[in-house]
Amino acid sequence: MLSEANRMKRLPLYLFTIIDQLKEQAKARGQDLIDLGMGNPDLPSPPHVVEALAAAVRKPENHRYSRPYGDVEKGLRKAIAQWYDQRFGVKLDPETEVLPLIGSKEGIAHLSLAFLNNDDIGMVTSPNYPVHANGVIMAGGILCNIPLGPENNFRPNFATLNRDLVKMTKIFLVSYPHNPTTATVDLDFYQELVDWGKGKDIILCSDIAYSDIVFDGYKAPSIFQAKGAKDAYCVEFHTCSKSYNMAGWRIAWAVGHPEILKSLAKTKSYIDFGIFRAIQEATILALTGPQDYVKDLVETYRKRRDLFVKGLHEMGWNVPIPKATFYIWAHIPPKFQGLTSLEFSTLLVREAGVVTAPGTGFGEYGEGYVRFALVEPEPRLKEALDRIRKVLAISS
Ligand SMILES: Cc1ncc(COP(=O)(O)O)c(C=O)c1O
Repeated sequence: MLSEANRMKRLPLYLFTIIDQLKEQAKARGQDLIDLGMGNPDLPSPPHVVEALAAAVRKPENHRYSRPYGDVEKGLRKAIAQWYDQRFGVKLDPETEVLPLIGSKEGIAHLSLAFLNNDDIGMVTSPNYPVHANGVIMAGGILCNIPLGPENNFRPNFATLNRDLVKMTKIFLVSYPHNPTTATVDLDFYQELVDWGKGKDIILCSDIAYSDIVFDGYKAPSIFQAKGAKDAYCVEFHTCSKSYNMAGWRIAWAVGHPEILKSLAKTKSYIDFGIFRAIQEATILALTGPQDYVKDLVETYRKRRDLFVKGLHEMGWNVPIPKATFYIWAHIPPKFQGLTSLEFSTLLVREAGVVTAPGTGFGEYGEGYVRFALVEPEPRLKEALDRIRKVLAISS
């Protein structure tokens, strides 16, 4: 019988496969589903960027394979460097410190493939966005989870890391604002991380997919704002998926240490042919053009957050108010604590027609929680709250 590679067998069941099965069953029952499961933004990409894409698609020169030294490719690297400077005051060399990606998920998975031997550890905070851990497993490395929770302020404590494990560690991955817990950090955290990592042959990897989705005056920093970050092996991933609702376009980037990017580019050169040039051309406009779109988007998410958190609080479900991301990380209410997160998510789909992501979809340390993604308009969120309220009341 045909057998998958052992490293594939070591992967946990992909979160969204479980959710999709639940959704299929509900649809077969004819249920109207409000889908707050996947972090898949519901709003359209910026109209001016869509127009730029339409024009770029019509140019035959964009139909060929993308090559790193084409004008559009150079232009995109320059636009990314300029965005970093404007956003964080961080100067980057577009030629050696910027690498565009076909989505940050792709880049994060390939980072592990580029660097991990089978006796190397990838240390990952947990719960996590699945590819942070699964990339390590798929590359054949050893996964080491650092549990995050309120007891450690959702941050790794460098002083308590096991020294023998640290010696075997090649990649140390953090991601703030954090999916799924919504935890945030200030620059002092990255300073601590960089000071810890300096002089070690460890890649300090930061994923800031949600750095633009921030509320109440909070500003999400970059690891490169920490002093000495360029003297350590740092790499940071960011994406157009969330800030510009361009999730389906598959466009993101890594910035950081030239040696890391060189190996990542080398790995990718054996696997892909880069990003559709028309997408690269339109992305230049997304990054360098007016940024009101991002401001308006954040305001939309803030209103959704306020509405949803208030609704949950009113039914006695005391979730924390997130300072960033478009998620709510909700402890399973006390009277349901006999249920696993998957059982509780299943209950919400079956009884309320509301899809959530079970906490264990983000690793074992997600048990006891469900995540709501606020990717439906306000009327649907109100409807979801009504339905959840009824289920919680009936089940009391
Ligand atoms: C923390 C985090 N990183 C990366 C991604 C994926 O981004 P991309 O669409 O660029 O692959 C996501 C998507 O939800 C995410 O939550």
